[in-house]
Amino acid sequence: MRALIAGNWKMNGLRESLAEVAAVAAAAPGIAADLLLCLPATLLPLAPRELPLGAQDCHANASGAHTGDLSAEMLADAGASHIIVGHSERRCDHHETDAAVRAKAAAAHRAALTAIICVGETLAQRDANETLAVVTSQLAGSVPDGATPANTAIAYEPVWAIGTGRTPTPDQVAQVHAAIHDALQTRFGATFRILYGGSVKPDNAATLLALPHVHGALVGGASLKAADFLAIARAA
Ligand code: G3P
Repeated sequence: MRALIAGNWKMNGLRESLAEVAAVAAAAPGIAADLLLCLPATLLPLAPRELPLGAQDCHANASGAHTGDLSAEMLADAGASHIIVGHSERRCDHHETDAAVRAKAAAAHRAALTAIICVGETLAQRDANETLAVVTSQLAGSVPDGATPANTAIAYEPVWAIGTGRTPTPDQVAQVHAAIHDALQTRFGATFRILYGGSVKPDNAATLLALPHVHGALVGGASLKAADFLAIARAA
């Protein structure tokens, strides 16, 4: 399976940052992985179309009286081919439940977009040995019935590894990815791309991306600079 290296810019980026997107787009043809940058919605219509672009959230509805929200259809219209849903920052900051995440993923599918559905345990849950139970429960609740390998990728992002410089051990990553793989096989009879996210950097990317059932990465901080993002992509 060809790796997907996706960047999540989160709430970062002004128009001047589009030079980084252009640099990634220029290098992408020479890289043996699929590249994607999930930008703030404000930058989507302005970014170069040569590179696949994603959004970071959507409303579940297609339109209506939801001040400040954006629908999957609007994000597609702005240039997105993918939408991240259920990122732990949204689950935490906006109290998004599995059911809400599932509805957003279904909305992405309705708009013919690929959903990147995030799951991951907190440090307290890992310390309590609940990681696999938490992740498989989030997966069961957050992935809609209409998911297919073509319209859905899963991102495993341990909450405690996001932005901290800490990562799980290779064995721990492999264990969770295997559990996600097995759960998807059981429910859908198919293998989806499973990305790892959480402090992926140029110096640990090769190790993480070589693990079984790791089909790519969802990169936060290191996706903001083209040089770092491309170094990670070249490790795939
Ligand atoms: O969605 C990607 C993200 O949560 C990981 O962030 O900065 O740890 O790579 P970072």
